[in-house]
Amino acid sequence: MGYDRSDSWTRRAKAAGFPARSVFKLEEIDERHHVVPSSGVAVDLGCFPGSWSKWLLGRGVRVVGVDLKAPTLPGGTWIVGSVLEVEASTLRDAAGGLAHLVVSDLAPNTSGQRLVDHVRQIALADRALALAVEIGRPGSNFVCKVFDGEDAGGFVERVRAAYTDVKRLKPDATRGSSVEFFVVAKGLRPPRPPAPPT
Ligand SMILES: C[S@@+](CC[C@H](N)C(=O)[O-])C[C@H]1O[C@@H](n2cnc3c(N)ncnc32)[C@H](O)[C@@H]1O
Repeated sequence: MGYDRSDSWTRRAKAAGFPARSVFKLEEIDERHHVVPSSGVAVDLGCFPGSWSKWLLGRGVRVVGVDLKAPTLPGGTWIVGSVLEVEASTLRDAAGGLAHLVVSDLAPNTSGQRLVDHVRQIALADRALALAVEIGRPGSNFVCKVFDGEDAGGFVERVRAAYTDVKRLKPDATRGSSVEFFVVAKGLRPPRPPAPPT
């Protein structure tokens, strides 16, 4: 059974000038957990069609976005390609340094097979986490979509190892039937010093 594409969240998003309903998810996450800095740079992984990026730009942060497709949105820096291939150094260069916030709304094309989609999505989430750890400044925040399933708990534990404060959230704008939730992580731990020689 499909869903009504013109549901009320989608209509509200269009009326507010955003291409996708996802904007309300990030807005709610920030209202509840205060993850968006007042200035600095955010990296938006899986940024197309650009609702999160547009909302972040409106909050006064610079945005570097990565997606297989480029948003037609002024004001950000867009890198077209796969997050599985983009180098962390490319993102750092585009950001002009380390990021204050990394967000990931990455989702694969869904196959309809729950386990296949879950495994593919967790691979994207793990890549987002690896990039966030490499390009985030110590103390920075990370927001990541997850398709719930067998490997979701393990992913949340990997986020906990990297950030001091980690929560799970299902925003109101997420469809009731959806398997998605968001990991909201604050306070990237500083890199560990190299182990002393033995
Ligand atoms: C739910 S949409 C993101 C919506 C976006 N946050 C917004 O507010 O407009 C998920 C995005 O992930 C992107 N994506 C999926 N796999 C990707 C990959 N390997 N590299 C980069 N982007 C990818 C898709 O192209 C799609 O645009």
